[in-house]
Amino acid sequence: MIQINENYTKLQASYLFVEIARRVSEFQKSNPGKELIKMGIGDVTKPLPKACLDAFHSGVDEMASEDSFKGYGPEKGYAFLRELIAEHDYKSRGVEISADDIFVSDGAKCDTGNFQELFSQDIKVAIPDPVYPVYVDTNVMAGRTGEATNQRYEGLTYMEGTLENGFVPSPEGLENADLIYLCYPNNPTGATATKEQLKAWVDYAKANKSLILFDAAYVAFIRDESIPHTIFEIPGAEEVAVEFRSYSKTAGFTGTRCAYTVIPSACKVWDSKGNEYILKDLWNRRHSTKFNGVSYPVQKAAAAVYSPEGKKQVKELIDYYLNNAAIIRESITDAGFEYTGGINSPYIWVKTGTDSWATFDTILNKAGVVITPGTGFGKCGEGYIRISAFNSLENVRKAMIGISEALK
Ligand code: MLT
Repeated sequence: MIQINENYTKLQASYLFVEIARRVSEFQKSNPGKELIKMGIGDVTKPLPKACLDAFHSGVDEMASEDSFKGYGPEKGYAFLRELIAEHDYKSRGVEISADDIFVSDGAKCDTGNFQELFSQDIKVAIPDPVYPVYVDTNVMAGRTGEATNQRYEGLTYMEGTLENGFVPSPEGLENADLIYLCYPNNPTGATATKEQLKAWVDYAKANKSLILFDAAYVAFIRDESIPHTIFEIPGAEEVAVEFRSYSKTAGFTGTRCAYTVIPSACKVWDSKGNEYILKDLWNRRHSTKFNGVSYPVQKAAAAVYSPEGKKQVKELIDYYLNNAAIIRESITDAGFEYTGGINSPYIWVKTGTDSWATFDTILNKAGVVITPGTGFGKCGEGYIRISAFNSLENVRKAMIGISEALK
């Protein structure tokens, strides 16, 4: 008899964004023809920057001729892309990362979800609440938790984010966390962490021989130069942190798929006997066994992000969404609600103080707008909603009039 991995039975019936899609589809069935504005899942709406498109097309053309055709590429990604990443995303911030420490992949969701496979079942996992649900669910699937009660899985350590701590939990009082998930600019709250706040985490990880998985998928939205753009700006982080980045939100690649993970060679991990391993080698073993690389034209398109035109076009793209975020913030302020985010982030996290799925339904039914209920990101998200700035300016304006009315 084929038996299932029973850890899957501990999961909520469906993934957050699948449940949202189900409710939206029900709404559309009962309201045929009614206009719907989607500001729920953080999915970009504007086309790829022209520089990326041109490179994408030329990459496809290369596949048409025997002289330039590419079969399997390097699992880690082509050197041309990894070298550009090291130069433009790290060296430009004064951070030395070798191209050899970079692994190109098809998404930060997959990488942040898969990375826990490298570690023992017994490790203590610390997860923020609210949080991107992938970090939690993949640890549940792997069997590191018991059952969930009241949105809390037995065996996980939750680090609570609140308006008071600005949704940046500190490591103070945290006992024996081996694997720590952090995400800044944060999904879902839009909060950013300062150098001092990240330093406290790096110091904690060094003192406890823990590992930080740092999700920096939204780094392109940082406009404040004093905010760290990478955890590797913190001295010592290269010994205790892995960083995940993505072109999805940076350059509109949600449907194109390209991301990367940085694992510095200095980052060490241990077995149960205390023998030391180089983390990068373990991930390399996993990555080259389970992954065959991102397609060549897509990597060419990603490399174009670093060309002078690519940089300019990416900046314009992000500026467009940040302008939407400013409109959302203004409207939320006028409606009298507290919020975080929307400044160095595409997400605005609004405290409505009401049941968040009920608020989701009210906004959907009254305004025809899809947002994300805070509770979908954890217990601490109850009473909040997340509004995404990814849509057209016209739709954002319309949606905010509707949301303000619906929340009266
Ligand atoms: C979100 O809306 O939280 C993200 O778009 C989900 C993702 O990047 O997978």
